[in-house]
Amino acid sequence: MADDQSAANVGGLTAHESGPLAGSTEVPGDKSISHRALMFGALAVGETQIEGLLESDDVLRTAAAMTALGAEVKRTGDGRWQVWGRGVGGLREPEDVIDLGNSGTGARLITGVLAGQGFNSVLTGDASLRSRPMARVTVPLAKMGAGFVCRSGERLPMMVMGSADLQPIVHEQTVASAQVKSAVLLAGLHAPGETSVLEDVATRDHTERMLRHFGAAVAVGAESGRQRITLTGQPELAGRQVQVPGDPSSAAFLAVAGLLVPGSEVRLVGVGRNPLRTGLFETLAEMGADLQWEAMRNDGGEPVGDLVMRAGPLQGVEVPAARAAAMIDEYPILAMAAACASGSTVMRGLGELRVKESDRLGAVARGLTACGVTVEEGEDTLVVHGGGRPPPGGATVRTDLDHRIAMSFLVLGLVSQNPVGIDDGTPIATSFPNFVALMKTLGADIRGRAD
Ligand code: S3P
Repeated sequence: MADDQSAANVGGLTAHESGPLAGSTEVPGDKSISHRALMFGALAVGETQIEGLLESDDVLRTAAAMTALGAEVKRTGDGRWQVWGRGVGGLREPEDVIDLGNSGTGARLITGVLAGQGFNSVLTGDASLRSRPMARVTVPLAKMGAGFVCRSGERLPMMVMGSADLQPIVHEQTVASAQVKSAVLLAGLHAPGETSVLEDVATRDHTERMLRHFGAAVAVGAESGRQRITLTGQPELAGRQVQVPGDPSSAAFLAVAGLLVPGSEVRLVGVGRNPLRTGLFETLAEMGADLQWEAMRNDGGEPVGDLVMRAGPLQGVEVPAARAAAMIDEYPILAMAAACASGSTVMRGLGELRVKESDRLGAVARGLTACGVTVEEGEDTLVVHGGGRPPPGGATVRTDLDHRIAMSFLVLGLVSQNPVGIDDGTPIATSFPNFVALMKTLGADIRGRAD
């Protein structure tokens, strides 16, 4: 049963109709960039200093994994971390199973790192991560020379049999996935010669940007309508300073809350504006949102700006499938905006949402239906019929170990006619540990069981 009015998990939270949200706030560090900063620091020679690291459960798992693999990883202040790396190919065999918790990015990228080490290691994770497909990385990495023993369906726990003799490949992406591209490039660091990835649709390029920042040669060019990314293997990576920008995928929840709660005006400071991540903001602008980027700047190779939004009416739109890669994590929160917009919002090309931390397409459709919204769920499409005003609400939604489902329905509850609950708020800590506290400082009425 998807939505249970009597759910009794200790981590349950309920969002109530709130007055205007107001204020200026930073958003937590980018999760994708935080994982990569720790991994590249561990593969570099010398000291890497990271500022603005996201200190969430997912990223702390990657920090622990890098420590288990022989890097020296130290927290020196709020969001400030220092990594002393072991060099490409210089990691050491971990003494125990590496547990990556809820983190698909941690699991897929670290698999790429381990593929090129001359030892075996075992990866596991929570129930959500153990249900997610790993074949997308094991197939190309096996072609390079690594070995894998997985549970049925190529799922974790998984043993990685690393090889100190990896061969370069040309990998043609079969799914638009930055995690897969990154795993192949990370393995390619260990192989002699050139490792290439061919993408039909460009996915987030944080790995390419950071590889260059640490001293690797990465070329990007066009080839028969596709993008070809080529890494020259076996570079000497050197420790660097990394400034982590605010995560646009976390900013998304605050932005939609600021657009939906009547009378709100919110400024989000230092949000990453990498053009391969900003699909949601483009879509919201097409829906008529009053949303502006200000104070544009560049932080450590990534474009950054302040995002200012004022609440107002939204209209339904058609979101092109080609935009999916640039907003893949943002469909759940877009669906909440669509539920309050006038007219229908059509979202296509969503097949990948079925294999995220939960089946997000199913979870959004079930949760919205329980909140009184009319939706049409297809295999890889979602149509949300908005009523031009907030929906009835009044349901408790099952979060299925998925932080983005949890935060999305809390945002919907701030405007719904009746409160919206989630059965378990603990997954929020995987990406946005201070979400509830921060929302409350802006004026949101979110309550735990004890409140
Ligand atoms: C990520 C890539 C995306 C995204 C995930 C982070 C990354 O996953 O959903 O949250 O940091 O590379 P896919 O590669 O599966 O699309």
